[in-house]
Amino acid sequence: MPSCSVFPVSATGNDMTPVPVHRPALPILATVNWPEGAGTPDPATAAALAAAAEKLTNGQLVAIPTETVYGLAANATDPDAVAGIFQAKGRPATNPLIVHVSDESMALTLVSQWPDIAQKAAAAFWPGPLTLVVPKADAVPDIVTAGGRTVALRCPSLKVTHQLIKLSQRPLAAPSANRSEAVSPTTAQHVLEGLGNRIGMILDNGPCEHGLESTVLDCTVNPPKILRPGPISAVQLEQALGISVYSSEPETSGAGQGSGSDTVLRSPGTQQRHYAPRTQLTLSKNAHSVITQLIQDGHRVGWLCNSPEESAVQTLAKSPEVLVIPMPKDPTAYARSLYATLHALDQRGLGRLIVDAVPSGPEWAAVRDRLNRAAT
Ligand code: TXA
Ligand code: MG
Repeated sequence: MPSCSVFPVSATGNDMTPVPVHRPALPILATVNWPEGAGTPDPATAAALAAAAEKLTNGQLVAIPTETVYGLAANATDPDAVAGIFQAKGRPATNPLIVHVSDESMALTLVSQWPDIAQKAAAAFWPGPLTLVVPKADAVPDIVTAGGRTVALRCPSLKVTHQLIKLSQRPLAAPSANRSEAVSPTTAQHVLEGLGNRIGMILDNGPCEHGLESTVLDCTVNPPKILRPGPISAVQLEQALGISVYSSEPETSGAGQGSGSDTVLRSPGTQQRHYAPRTQLTLSKNAHSVITQLIQDGHRVGWLCNSPEESAVQTLAKSPEVLVIPMPKDPTAYARSLYATLHALDQRGLGRLIVDAVPSGPEWAAVRDRLNRAAT
């Protein structure tokens, strides 16, 4: 960590000797941009990717964009580098990391078995927002998998990320680039706000396409299980795999508690409070009266509202104590904007966030899952 000297205050204050003070340096923020259809990246992007690859090869941490959320990357084959991820995030050592690969052949170097289901799912959805849990090879350090015998693998589709893995010539362990339990970052600015003084470099590719984390599919069980719903839906998986896929979600805002009879061992990271803004968040089917009461009790309220056009909403929105955020009616657009909205509202000094319950259909599964966890 670089240090700088300040003058003239010393530890005792009674002489003029400069005392070194350790100040965390801000990370290098490098813009990257590689449009679809462009064969090669522009020179600035190529230079930023080369610099990032060098840092990763040297065991340093780099925050990277992906098509889902920003990740905090380290060389997955270097246990010391991976330890830096856990430290920077404040992540419990019991929560394993996803390893990002450039293609299936890199994945095969990290597994002891490649089940048919994994092979089919990779063929259908890689590169893309699908993580496959499979038996791990000895090449994967135990710290990555939290001592477990399986490893979670994902091949990101964003071109700059793909290229970075190729340049690094190594698989990259990368959880979302936020402090543990906080809302995942969907812009470089979110990473800077959450982890800025803990990492050396951030690659800024603008807002993420999906805005929610990848679907996690456990391929070591039969039928395969969705451990975390995400951009690739159960229906898409079933169509591609030709078999039924097990999925479950918490019915209420109890993180990690399966619904009623569900005895499935969930993804370790989903057993904890997750994805939560700092402001207390409540899901409501009756937001209007809940908010009216909160205002009477003296709270300032943010409302993630599904029907801003309703006249009752417009009346309430005139209150200076309420900030109404109209949310998209389409689940893909809702997912893309959810975390950015929560990050922005956390800056507003509101007492409470009230979120209209979202529809019950399967296309809303990933959004519902994140909202239930945020409301814990
Ligand atoms: O979209 C994403 O998946 C993003 C981007 C950066 O790729 N990454 C991400 O990582 O969301 P993270 O660490 O925030 O979430 C990974 C989830 C956690 O719930 C973790 O417990 C689970 O995957 N996981 C990792 N390895 C696992 C394993 N071997 N078995 C079961 N679950 C695992
Ligand atoms: Mg995360």
